[in-house]
Amino acid sequence: MLTPEGIPIMTTEPIAFYDDPDVLTRYLEARGRRDDGNRVIEEPHIRVMIPDMRRKRVLDLGCGDGRFARTAAREGAASFHGVDGSEAMLARARAGSGWAAATWECRNLESWEAGDSVYDLVVSRMALHYVVGLDRLLRAVRRALIEGGSLVFSVEHPMVTCHYPTDSGEGAADRWTVMDYFSKGPRRCHWLGADVWKQHRPLADYVGAVLADGFQLVSLSEGEPDSSSFGDTASYRSRKSIPAYLIVRALAV
Ligand SMILES: C[S@@+](CC[C@H](N)C(=O)[O-])C[C@H]1O[C@@H](n2cnc3c(N)ncnc32)[C@H](O)[C@@H]1O
Repeated sequence: MLTPEGIPIMTTEPIAFYDDPDVLTRYLEARGRRDDGNRVIEEPHIRVMIPDMRRKRVLDLGCGDGRFARTAAREGAASFHGVDGSEAMLARARAGSGWAAATWECRNLESWEAGDSVYDLVVSRMALHYVVGLDRLLRAVRRALIEGGSLVFSVEHPMVTCHYPTDSGEGAADRWTVMDYFSKGPRRCHWLGADVWKQHRPLADYVGAVLADGFQLVSLSEGEPDSSSFGDTASYRSRKSIPAYLIVRALAV
């Protein structure tokens, strides 16, 4: 399906999803919870992969409401550039950062290029599983990174994205069922009260995409939960049963 401009819907829909005020309210509410998966699992895992940010030029792809800019500022980054397709997210980022060295760009990652800008560190948290053209984007990231620079990203784990039904409706299940694991491509996900396309890729496809274009894989985590991060054993046990996040660090070589 195409937009009136001839752009495939599934490349623009995730942006419209986050621009929807009801979705955004529910998203921010979920992110604020004490047991939010990002807070108790994704964040601790990605933090250990992010190198020293002092005096570094940091790029954040799919920066959302810009919360990582605050971390970068606190940890001494020289500059921060946040890219996101959602104007609603960026409005929050602009209002909340209060850091003169932070800049923001509203842009679809499917066509993003850095131009003449160069970065020491590229971070992307929970955005790349929406991107259809991951290989193209990683090539653009590689061009924007200095040699020896780092790419660190987190995505929904393939065990999660393969739970959503495929384009043809296969895989719909009322229990957590691994379906059509090797069928790559769009999956329909009902989340935060609305439907959105996410892209399912087997684990090897993420690794292959990273290795294909001048990156060296340094670290990979499937986000094993740490019991000490949880207030109760029931939520720890439930989080421990399925890997929710894939977190990767690669070096530009
Ligand atoms: C789950 S949020 C994560 C936000 C932020 N990185 C964080 O961890 O708080 C995903 C973000 O990716 C953005 N996004 C998804 N697909 C995109 C695309 N094709 N181009 C630009 N931004 C996109 C959404 O607008 C949203 O802000």
